[in-house]
Amino acid sequence: MSDIERVCSFLEECGTYYLATADGDQPRVRPFGTIMLYEGKLCIQTGKVKAVSRQLSANPKAEICAFRDGTWLRVSGELAEDSRLEVKTAMLEKYPSLRAMYSPEDDNTQVLYFRCGQAVFSSFTAAPETVSL
Ligand SMILES: Cc1cc2nc3c(=O)[nH]c(=O)nc-3n(C[C@H](O)[C@H](O)[C@H](O)COP(=O)(O)O)c2cc1C
Repeated sequence: MSDIERVCSFLEECGTYYLATADGDQPRVRPFGTIMLYEGKLCIQTGKVKAVSRQLSANPKAEICAFRDGTWLRVSGELAEDSRLEVKTAMLEKYPSLRAMYSPEDDNTQVLYFRCGQAVFSSFTAAPETVSL
């Protein structure tokens, strides 16, 4: 398994992770669950109508934190939109329950990917391990 696949699998296995953005000088954090590897990039899904989407278009810097089995993961970097229909379709195929609210053709569904950044696996028992995105 490649490093980025390990990052994606960890987040999948957590089920829920927490996504932080900047709203001016105010940090904002909320639970997220969508995660997918597409063409080797780590992707998440949201709706353009949400504040999180507006915050990321003003400032693409973001951080994810998740915890499972004594290990926590921080993914930090910059999120960029991938507006291709095929990417949105793949995301909604992975999370069919989202189809009640989203479709690849609507003006709301948004897939964002880490265009740069790093992921750090940490625990109390081992040295931190850094992976480039
Ligand atoms: C377990 C869980 C997973 C969630 N996953 C997502 C997700 O992947 N994408 C998303 O846009 N919203 C997701 N949400 C909803 C967001 O947390 C919620 O819409 C939040 O208010 C968005 O942040 P904002 O209010 O700053 O825009 C999830 C909520 C929960 C409880």
